[in-house]
Amino acid sequence: MATTTPVSERIRVEVQLEPSHREADLAELRATLMESPRRIPSKYFYDQQGSALFEQITELPEYYLARTERSLLESIADEVAARTGAEELVELGAGAATKTRILLDAMSRQGNLRLYVPFDVSESEVRRVAEELTREYDELFVHGMVADFTHHLDEIPPGDPRLVILLGSTIGNYRPEEAVELLQGVCDPMAAGDFFLLGVDLVKDVERLEAAYNDSAGITAEFNRNILRVVNRLAEADFRPESYRHVAFFDRENSWIEISLAAETDQPVRLEALDLTLSIEAEEKIHTEISSKYDRPMVEEMLVASGFRLAEWYTDPDRLFALALARKSG
Ligand code: SAH
Ligand code: TRP
Repeated sequence: MATTTPVSERIRVEVQLEPSHREADLAELRATLMESPRRIPSKYFYDQQGSALFEQITELPEYYLARTERSLLESIADEVAARTGAEELVELGAGAATKTRILLDAMSRQGNLRLYVPFDVSESEVRRVAEELTREYDELFVHGMVADFTHHLDEIPPGDPRLVILLGSTIGNYRPEEAVELLQGVCDPMAAGDFFLLGVDLVKDVERLEAAYNDSAGITAEFNRNILRVVNRLAEADFRPESYRHVAFFDRENSWIEISLAAETDQPVRLEALDLTLSIEAEEKIHTEISSKYDRPMVEEMLVASGFRLAEWYTDPDRLFALALARKSG
């Protein structure tokens, strides 16, 4: 059972993630660790420390994605607010919601703004963002959802004309077929007048792409290793994060950055909660993430396969990043 708690007059927080999912999570973790190559589901990056490290990534000089998406949003926000006429903003994978205010301000200038729905697996982020935004916007209601957007998209309460957003190229962290499944889940419950805004990183020269995932300050490496700390807690395991090297490179064939952790030496690992012992060999890589890089035809194809049609394609002058505005087709 999900629980919905009124936090204040203008804040509700709905928790869909429950302890009972732990069994399913552990079973999934066992399966992915036994795959060849081994893998850890990327949702485990974002505990409180992981979310804080990700915010640091977005401020790195090499990580052009965040600041490019931000300035692109600034240049299109009024047009998007006017064109969609949206009264509700639903943000999937909201995180710290640093870019959200740009759209909220534009909706507010249109005089339409009523409700913001931050949707994230990270409960601490959802609660913090709800408090901050109701403080900053006098009339705004916030319905926070602590939930998994691969499972709980149809739990979002139906309401007024809405704009659903998925920023930060988070969609790129899913393999093409998983991405389509996720986007179908976004599209299905949408009403005819609703819009969807998707942030995607674009293919560009390899040096620039790879630098964004191999920053000189080592923050990305720390973020990557943090996933082992989360798994240690979840599965009562004894991974030694400092014994793994951060690896990230552009796989041209798949058009994605492949991110993994390579064991420096042979690593025996015990996962008590799974009653499982692993022998990870020196130089063996555990895959933790992919980050897909797109062009416009790839995005259009993905949207169409998910039930959308592309309404507008926005990109920055250097064509580093794009925002695709879509609506339900038909
Ligand atoms: N939108 C922000 C944050 C991007 S980081 C930005 O653009 O900067 C990705 C966010 O998605 C994290 O906050 C993470 O907790 C969340 N997330 C990852 N997998 C998720 C899932 N399956 N369901 C819901 N949220 C998820
Ligand atoms: N959505 C972000 C991206 O693909 C997530 C991300 C940034 C990330 N840096 C990372 C994930 C490093 C894993 C490791 O760019």
